[in-house]
Amino acid sequence: MALRSVLLAVISAIVSIPTANAASTPASSNNIILRNLAVPRFFGAAANTTFLYHDLNYTEVISTQFSIFTPENEMKWEDIEPEPNSFDFGPADEIVRFAESVNAKVRGHNFMWGSQLPPWVNDTLTATELDRALQNHITKVMEHYRGKLYAIDVVNEMISDNTPNETFKDNIWTEKFGEEAVPKALTYARAVDSQPKLYINDYSIEGINSKSDTLYSVLQGFIADGVPIDAVGFQCHFYLGQVPDTLQQNLQRFADLGLDVAITELDINLQGPGNATSLEQQAKDYWTVVNACVQTKRCVSVTVWGVSDDHSWIPGGNPLPWNAEKQPKPAFYAIADAFEGKPEP
Ligand SMILES: *[C@@H]1O[C@H](CO)[C@@H](O)[C@H](O)[C@H]1NC(C)=O
Ligand SMILES: *[C@@H]1O[C@H](CO)[C@@H](O)[C@H](O)[C@H]1NC(C)=O
Ligand SMILES: *[C@@H]1O[C@H](CO)[C@@H](O)[C@H](O)[C@H]1NC(C)=O
Ligand SMILES: *[C@@H]1O[C@H](CO)[C@@H](O)[C@H](O)[C@H]1NC(C)=O
Ligand SMILES: *[C@@H]1O[C@H](CO)[C@@H](O)[C@H](O)[C@H]1NC(C)=O
Repeated sequence: MALRSVLLAVISAIVSIPTANAASTPASSNNIILRNLAVPRFFGAAANTTFLYHDLNYTEVISTQFSIFTPENEMKWEDIEPEPNSFDFGPADEIVRFAESVNAKVRGHNFMWGSQLPPWVNDTLTATELDRALQNHITKVMEHYRGKLYAIDVVNEMISDNTPNETFKDNIWTEKFGEEAVPKALTYARAVDSQPKLYINDYSIEGINSKSDTLYSVLQGFIADGVPIDAVGFQCHFYLGQVPDTLQQNLQRFADLGLDVAITELDINLQGPGNATSLEQQAKDYWTVVNACVQTKRCVSVTVWGVSDDHSWIPGGNPLPWNAEKQPKPAFYAIADAFEGKPEP
């Protein structure tokens, strides 16, 4: 703790950012409120009920800085429908109620994914049974949250990592439904409720590369065939210094298909404790991603995957804009700069 404070003081002096003196509470960092600077876009976080209302500094930051929330796990299939047609909406409801209480929107997450499935979905069903289970799942969840979701990641991580040889990942959905899997989920979702924006969300599609080319042609096909799709989510889990140069150009080509685009799970993994150099690079990386969104008219939101480093899904990666003490890091100020149209730090 003491060492960390000293380190932070040194870092702050080097990059000349205000420290804990100016930022006396975690949320009022120099009165910079990112959700205000982001307008007309949304600035979001993955929210986690393990910490909401339990870690008060976390709660203060999350209540102040964000205008859209994604439940980190609470809407995943194994959490929300652990047994057939038996739904546990409690934790997801808590996030939705919290979002309403701070006048923020919600991105639902997610319906079709090969991970975090309960065994009854992943193992035992025939194709016909799985089809009914999928439609029932999507229908019940969307009916429960009717009027409350701005967007939904209907489809998560379904594009193969072996493009162009393979289009979709090998999982229970493609095993049972082949190429019809993804259109099926989107069609079921749209049939329930026409309001939420329907997303395909994925990783390693941020730059122009074989995987994003594959998604691009899949989407061209969907649009031609009338498969309902509104938007693409670019996860943006990056290692330090590895934001692709073609990010903005890539966002724009998907936008040019007539789709919204969004940064949905941003974090910049330091793979260790921060030092002045790495924190400065992390700030630049955040700036680059947020700026790419700001420069793309149809980019509607930037969501970070967590809030503070101590509660990240990447232990020891220190990938977020707030440190373990919930004090803003250089990345926080870089996000503000990017939303305000200021140059790279
Ligand atoms: C919460 O923040 C305050 C002021 O920034 C700090 O003094 C306190 O130690 C923090 N609490 C925890 C549990 O981190
Ligand atoms: C689903 O089953 C496959 C094959 O048995 C397994 O490899 C995979 O880890 C399982 N997925 C989940 C989410 O349980
Ligand atoms: C795709 O298939 C070709 C021919 O079978 C093979 O040479 C190539 O390595 C494969 N590429 C990938 C990315 O798997
Ligand atoms: C700072 O951190 C980076 C990334 O973890 C590391 O590669 C580098 O060696 C560190 N630099 C110093 C001066 O400690
Ligand atoms: C909250 O985050 C922790 C740490 O990543 C994780 O273990 C836990 O499953 C999350 N809880 C929920 C409800 O998502």
